[in-house]
Amino acid sequence: MAIETRPDTSQELPEESPYDALMAYGKERGYKLDWLQQQSSWGSHPNIGDTDSGGFLLQDADLGPFSQVPDSSNNATGKPRGAIQRDSAPRVGNYPIRTKSDIWLRNGAQLYEEAIQRQWSSATDIPWDSLEELPDEIERAECQLATFLTEIEFVAGDVPGRWISYTTPDYYEPRMYLISQIMDEARHLDVFRKRALANGGGLMEQQKSNAAVRSVIDSARDFTEMSARLHIAGEGSVLSVFRMGELMSYNEAEKSIYRLAASDESRHVAFGVMHLQYVSQTDPERKEEIHTYLDDIEIGLTRQADPQNPAVRGTASNTAISILMGGGADDNSIEEGQKVLLAVRARQVKEYMQRVRVAGFGERFENGRANAALDDYLSA
Ligand SMILES: [Fe+2]
Ligand SMILES: [Fe+2]
Repeated sequence: MAIETRPDTSQELPEESPYDALMAYGKERGYKLDWLQQQSSWGSHPNIGDTDSGGFLLQDADLGPFSQVPDSSNNATGKPRGAIQRDSAPRVGNYPIRTKSDIWLRNGAQLYEEAIQRQWSSATDIPWDSLEELPDEIERAECQLATFLTEIEFVAGDVPGRWISYTTPDYYEPRMYLISQIMDEARHLDVFRKRALANGGGLMEQQKSNAAVRSVIDSARDFTEMSARLHIAGEGSVLSVFRMGELMSYNEAEKSIYRLAASDESRHVAFGVMHLQYVSQTDPERKEEIHTYLDDIEIGLTRQADPQNPAVRGTASNTAISILMGGGADDNSIEEGQKVLLAVRARQVKEYMQRVRVAGFGERFENGRANAALDDYLSA
């Protein structure tokens, strides 16, 4: 409606009920004043913060009806949460995720805000000029590892990405968080690609077996299962590797890459842990089903962590990590590197168990349900 069609109400409205009076005044004169409808929180002011306290945050913006998250949603029209429904609005989405516990987590808005505040650029935040010529076998190993990471980072963005359009806008916090994750994964993909190409090498051979990646892709029938496999198991394992990145870095550029990527990954893992925790607390009927996913995840985790398994020991990415951690491609260095790699695997398993405990499924480690092979890594 054009601004000039609004009635001049400045002189004539009683102060005690400006909204009702304005509606009555306008309607008497033939105006259709639907645009004037307002929610009950009209007139309330959120804490808009200041830059020292982190600024105006999404979690502080949502007041009254805007903060009320329904346990189930029939919003198929793209209506923003808390906005007034228009009955003639067409449907724009047939969202399979319309039950809160299917995707929700506590503090999703905070995690999203953190993601936005911690964005970085692979172009300008990595000291690329610290790269110097490396021995051939080290450069080859860097390039092989970077190729592997580029390949799996693609999946880490692709798989959660499809859930965004499946989710009702009433659960906008996890939706927007997932959008930020996809941006993070695009940056990881680009930074490892750049590392492969930056120092005279290039992308090497892709993975021979992508069973772990396939299990994440195939699990995408249910968000919670996908999240447990991707965020908690897959990205959790990658995070443990990134956190030991110092041990396989040969310059400041590589250290920065692992440090910045680890900071992003810890957020992705936190999302998965917080979501699973929400499910365990609000939808306990699903616990047994989720334990079944964890059974399967642990088979993959212990197989992947087993340094005696020749299929795993010999993979290009594991050999590359062993060379980088051992400092060379001769037998002694690789042997040394494999010992460090075993420590990385042990850390992956320990951190996985910690996350599962925080998520509310720790009973599996007490009642004998967890994979027995996990214990081998605890003592490693
Ligand atoms: Fe990533
Ligand atoms: Fe990630």
